[in-house]
Amino acid sequence: MTIKHEVPSYLTQHGIGPWGDYLEQIDRVTPYLGNLARWVETMKRPKRMLIVDVPIERDDGTIAHFEGYRVQHNTSRGPGKGGVRFHQDVTLSEVMALSAWMTVKNAAVNVPYGGAKGGIRVDPKTLSQGELQRMTRRYTSEIGIIIGPNKDIPAPDVNTNEQIMAWMMDTYSMNQGSTASGVVTGKPISLGGSLGRREATGRGVFVVGCEAAVKRGLDIHGAKIAVQGFGNVGGIAARLFSEAGAKVVAVQDHISTVVRSSGLDVAALQAHVNETGSVAGFKGGEEISDRAQFWAVDCDILVPAALEQQITVENAPTIRAKIILEGANGPTSPAADDILHEKGVLVVPDVIANAGGVTVSYFEWVQDFSSFFWTEDEINLRLTRIMREAFTAVWQLAEEKKVSLRTAAFIVACTRVLQAREMRGLYP
Ligand SMILES: NC(=O)c1ccc[n+]([C@@H]2O[C@H](COP(=O)([O-])OP(=O)(O)OC[C@H]3O[C@@H](n4cnc5c(N)ncnc54)[C@H](O)[C@@H]3O)[C@@H](O)[C@H]2O)c1
Repeated sequence: MTIKHEVPSYLTQHGIGPWGDYLEQIDRVTPYLGNLARWVETMKRPKRMLIVDVPIERDDGTIAHFEGYRVQHNTSRGPGKGGVRFHQDVTLSEVMALSAWMTVKNAAVNVPYGGAKGGIRVDPKTLSQGELQRMTRRYTSEIGIIIGPNKDIPAPDVNTNEQIMAWMMDTYSMNQGSTASGVVTGKPISLGGSLGRREATGRGVFVVGCEAAVKRGLDIHGAKIAVQGFGNVGGIAARLFSEAGAKVVAVQDHISTVVRSSGLDVAALQAHVNETGSVAGFKGGEEISDRAQFWAVDCDILVPAALEQQITVENAPTIRAKIILEGANGPTSPAADDILHEKGVLVVPDVIANAGGVTVSYFEWVQDFSSFFWTEDEINLRLTRIMREAFTAVWQLAEEKKVSLRTAAFIVACTRVLQAREMRGLYP
């Protein structure tokens, strides 16, 4: 039976969106929280949500308005931390869920942050560079009242990159009157960014993928990989798997799906995407027109690395992979999780699998504060260690409690967050 949650007045029970998936995940972990369950409601209430109007003058002289959000879900363990998404489908429900998953992720890998997320409801491909810059700067000014190096630190997410972070850092700094490099992470190296940050999320996906493969007795060399989303996360993960001798047999993006059972040339595909903006039209593979077929591709490891709510009760039964590595946030619905569990598919949850990005963001923030920068080798070594340790701890707990890796990761994370909440106590 699904529990009917109390939802804030601005959401409706019908069509609650990704926030509903998150609430169901919290319900699943609550029986394992012991006395801390008394505090669990704290996980179901975002601490602070800011909705802003972002007006800009278009190049043709007209005025356009966009809806912007910044949600700080929880700050019990430290400042808010989480990306900024520019996408036409951004909603408050989505940003709430993404901010909550950041709280869980940061606690699961034990970096000293709470959880936050932001976004603008816009298709950035419809904007010129000048319009994009004006929109980013106005949004940053609007949310400037709640972000800051010790308050809440944004980072890149879908359709945002180093350039957007540079504009955000500059806008915040100009408003403050001094350079505040620690206000965002994922910056260009020349502005206090960290070596290895751009690749960090994909690298983390690859590292936990290798750990999961060992547990499943799967040799990465020759393993068949399918990737949905060929952006920052999916593109890098595909490259690293391919360099390790795996075969990337299918890639889907927002426009098309390309397959090749003997393995796609990932470097050539990346060059094609850099040039054209999509995998569509890539000559080194066969394009399939039925998007749903992607899920049924014959593969060992499936990496959803695009958007949330992709693996559903409709397509979960068709999945043939042995392992799912969640590069995206929230790609699997709770009902689909149950189907995959019954089929014996190992799901490595987002809050562990894609935590490499925030881990190196944490390194970037520390480096900015100390103005002392580390080598790429040091960063990758530390990242790999944290990812492996987090995966192993969650794996052991899952075995001990006989629960899924997701529930185990949520037990670890919620325990850390709620212990912090309890020790701090309620103010006033
Ligand atoms: N960038 C990070 O550091 C980071 C960290 C953790 C998690 N994530 C998550 O990873 C996912 C991808 O983020 P990213 O930074 O790689 O974004 P990105 O903008 O670099 O790439 C997004 C990719 O997804 C594809 N895509 C978009 N809509 C799609 C659809 N409907 N079907 C199939 N493909 C679609 C796009 O074509 C593109 O290839 C998101 O869920 C994000 O929250 C990102």
